[in-house]
Amino acid sequence: MTRIALVTGGIGGLGTAICTRLAQDGYTVVANHHPSEADAAEAWKKDRADAGFSIDTIAADVSSFEDSARMVNEITAHHGPIDILINCAGITRDKTFKKMEAAQWNAVISVNLNSVFNVTRPVWEGMLERGFGRIVNISSVNGQRGQFGQANYSAAKAGMHGFTMALAQEGASKGVTVNTISPGYVETAMTLAMDETVRNSIISGIPMRRMAQPDEIAAAISFLVSDESAYVTGANLPVNGGLFMH
Ligand code: CAA
Repeated sequence: MTRIALVTGGIGGLGTAICTRLAQDGYTVVANHHPSEADAAEAWKKDRADAGFSIDTIAADVSSFEDSARMVNEITAHHGPIDILINCAGITRDKTFKKMEAAQWNAVISVNLNSVFNVTRPVWEGMLERGFGRIVNISSVNGQRGQFGQANYSAAKAGMHGFTMALAQEGASKGVTVNTISPGYVETAMTLAMDETVRNSIISGIPMRRMAQPDEIAAAISFLVSDESAYVTGANLPVNGGLFMH
């Protein structure tokens, strides 16, 4: 039976590449999107179908536990239990800390970090019971090294990997692996939204002197969810062009 993969933030720049790669790999893929993006999701689904990929979409606000649980129930009823979860939903609210408001802190923590609890919690027990699961949390180089103007984002992204390491221990003896991928700067709408001068100065500091293509991140995810990676758990795999090494 084909394995079922859920990608949160699935219709975004990175999400699209991840969904497409997992569909190419032969999984049944469901792309989550925010309820406010219903029209964009419809167009996205058609675009993916035109490209030869049949990928289902589902609306849910992953910053809400109730809505996330409802989403998981609907996917399970329609497709079957979720074997692979990619926690990819994320936003930025960049501000120097002296200007950062509580709303900007809370929005980023809710969408980027609380979502990881909200979506993983309802799929977790089923994975343990079935003896197979793959969870990949999409963090960031900026969770590893911090970034000027991103106290909220860096905190959330660092938190994701703490979660990964704890949960990896709970899943290890049950066939469920939990890993983090920490992308560097990837060519998506999120990085394009940055001021051009700031962006260019960041690129000049990347040893490879370029941003990543979304496909280059998706390839690492393809590896982590595969059967061959069964012995990899609790890892934080950087895909950052050499921007941060440790
Ligand atoms: N280090 C030190 N000082 C810096 C700096 C840096 N990296 N960047 C800016 N500054 C300084 C400026 O020189 C300026 O100094 P003065 O006040 O002395 O003139 C000051 O900081 C700018 O302060 P502002 O109050 O004007 O800044 P702001 O609150 O409006 O916000 C910012 C500025 C939007 C945070 C901007 O610095 C920025 O865009 N930084 C980059 C943030 C970033 O990397 N975002 C990544 C988005 S993509 C993503 O997140 C994906 C991923 O995972 C990688």
